[in-house]
Amino acid sequence: MIEYIQSERAFYLSGQNYSYVMYVDALGNLQNLHYGAKIEKADIPYLIEEIGEPVTRELHDLNFFSRERMRCECGAYGRGDYRESTVILKRSDGGAISEFRYVRHILQDGAPNIKGLPHARSGGQTLAVTLCDACSDTELDLHYTVWDDSDVLARNIVVRNTGKETLTVKKAFSFCLDLPNRNYKILQLHGAWTRERTPEITDIGHGVVRLQSMRGASGFEVHPFAALLERDCTETQGACYGAQFVYSGSFALTAETNSYGNTRLQGGINDTQFSWELCAGESFTAPQALLCYSPQGLGALSRAYADFIREHIVNPAYAYKHRPIVINNWEATYFDFDNEKLFAIIDEAAHLDVDTFVLDDGWFGKRNDASSGLGDWFVNEQKLSGGLKAVVERCKQNGLRFGLWFEPEMVSPDSDLYRAHPDWAIHKKGIEPIVGRKQLVLDFTRKDVMDYIFEIMRKILSENDISYVKWDMNRFITECTSESLPPHRQGEFVHRYILGVYDLAERLTNEFPQIFFEGCASGGGRFDAGMLYYFPQLWTSDNTDGYERARIQWGTSLIYPLSAMSCHVSACPNHQTGRTTPLRTRGAIASLGATGYELNPALLSAEEKDLCRSQIAEYKNIEDLILCGDLYRLSSPFESDYFCEMVVSKDKNRAYVVGEQLRALPNSPVEYLRLHGLDESKTYRIAEYNKTASGKTLVSIGVA
Ligand code: GLA
Repeated sequence: MIEYIQSERAFYLSGQNYSYVMYVDALGNLQNLHYGAKIEKADIPYLIEEIGEPVTRELHDLNFFSRERMRCECGAYGRGDYRESTVILKRSDGGAISEFRYVRHILQDGAPNIKGLPHARSGGQTLAVTLCDACSDTELDLHYTVWDDSDVLARNIVVRNTGKETLTVKKAFSFCLDLPNRNYKILQLHGAWTRERTPEITDIGHGVVRLQSMRGASGFEVHPFAALLERDCTETQGACYGAQFVYSGSFALTAETNSYGNTRLQGGINDTQFSWELCAGESFTAPQALLCYSPQGLGALSRAYADFIREHIVNPAYAYKHRPIVINNWEATYFDFDNEKLFAIIDEAAHLDVDTFVLDDGWFGKRNDASSGLGDWFVNEQKLSGGLKAVVERCKQNGLRFGLWFEPEMVSPDSDLYRAHPDWAIHKKGIEPIVGRKQLVLDFTRKDVMDYIFEIMRKILSENDISYVKWDMNRFITECTSESLPPHRQGEFVHRYILGVYDLAERLTNEFPQIFFEGCASGGGRFDAGMLYYFPQLWTSDNTDGYERARIQWGTSLIYPLSAMSCHVSACPNHQTGRTTPLRTRGAIASLGATGYELNPALLSAEEKDLCRSQIAEYKNIEDLILCGDLYRLSSPFESDYFCEMVVSKDKNRAYVVGEQLRALPNSPVEYLRLHGLDESKTYRIAEYNKTASGKTLVSIGVA
């Protein structure tokens, strides 16, 4: 709900468990008065008196001109707010001073449809507050969208050039949130290839903490997410504030605590090397950020984000629908396959009850290893006689559907495409390009390049019976320039690149609504809400080790629904770690997401095949919980020898618990695991042990 209280010039926004209050002070500043626990509207005069007015009074005294005590909704440069700015506008005279003052606002039903960028869809109510820059002819629209049944609040900023001169947007973050400093800790998810999304909680202290990606993608290393945690915040209690983006490009998130008792959390497109030319009358739209307030710890934060992403980010045609249970040939064959090898996998896979066979990398061009062929999206008939049609046919004979791997954004220097169009790869004349995984990145800021890739993919997807596409992206961007852009627009390159990716994803998913798309980036290297807007699930990690995966999926579940995570059972010893874990463990961990297999079923024993079949049958039985339920993390693999998570149906009639003992301990004490999220007045039957107990007992005493 959003209300404007005219008498106080105040905005009162509220969702399920939070209130967000701002007011326009006598000088026209839009000040934040409160974001957090739900408060009464009647208390707004008290907040103004207690929080807003003392700051405004101080501003009147020019001998002490500082906005540092002010909780601003948009930080400006050069007029007494010495913290990092939210928006920086450079004019032709070289100056960049700004002071943002309220001019008007509008309230509308629904969420804004942000053209060209992924965004929260459907429902809600949106407030757009327009601020004008007292130092230039520029207006900012600060958008706030709230949903009554959610604790997620969507924000972004639109910069509008209302003058006659061209200006340069040097920085346009999506949001600024000034909170009273409560000595917060900051939670981030750091990682690397095969070590994605490891939670790390540190003090923020004074000064600036900056989390960022400079890779042209959200990346592995620092996730586009941060949460500020009050000191008593744990998994199940205490307040915290999350921020993530509906964006997949280079981002920055900063948390700055100053000497005057304020902590500023803000973020958006990474401003390093960013600039955007804004001609008279043009506007620039920053990507959306999703803020979330949880009064009850990280568990509740995760559930709020998970519900929100399923309900408002993922394509509604797929959000709660059965996900294809795939068998993927990558780890079974790598590049070394032909019809015979694939047919053997397909024939065996049919007996496991999987839905879809996915043909991974290596089916096209002259691609027998990672050094060649990307961009040549023509079937390699030397490997696959009869082309894709023969493989599709074999799948059909076995009652399977067919999926196919692409890496649309890439080109190998050793490819016909590159030989014909060397200028299509991102490059800077006179500088040897850095080759990552022996490949270059196509210049997706160029329409001709994008059109070519669209057409060639359209051809394959329309000529073959394909029900699933795995869209991979295996290197980050270097030499971030394009000859298609004039010198003064080179700062736009990285953002324009990701807009190109979104454009292609949108065109293909619109053209082929019946095809299920899964995103991937060397595992989980571009795992974000932006990609989830186009692709309902993302490959979580190339690391499918039963022990490591529990940790990766735990970290990922902090801000994404289980259904966003593609999780496969792979062979042992594991190809990434060399570790052997029981098939039962691998299956259980992979069942906490969109499950599938990544192995050669012909190499499984009869007993293992039976186990896979029963895993799939069991998965189908609980899939509705994975797609629609509430996740409770019970025992952290980072803090104990046990991993345990459970999912509870919304009506609390059913629950699914998965546990893994990470380290064997001889002669171990009995641990009692208290369950969460159950209805204490209900009686539950524990299917595996065929025992019954009340919700109250399971929650307060637990299971051994
Ligand atoms: C990436 C993906 C893998 C696989 C390979 C193919 O590493 O994460 O799943 O598709 O590319 O080259």
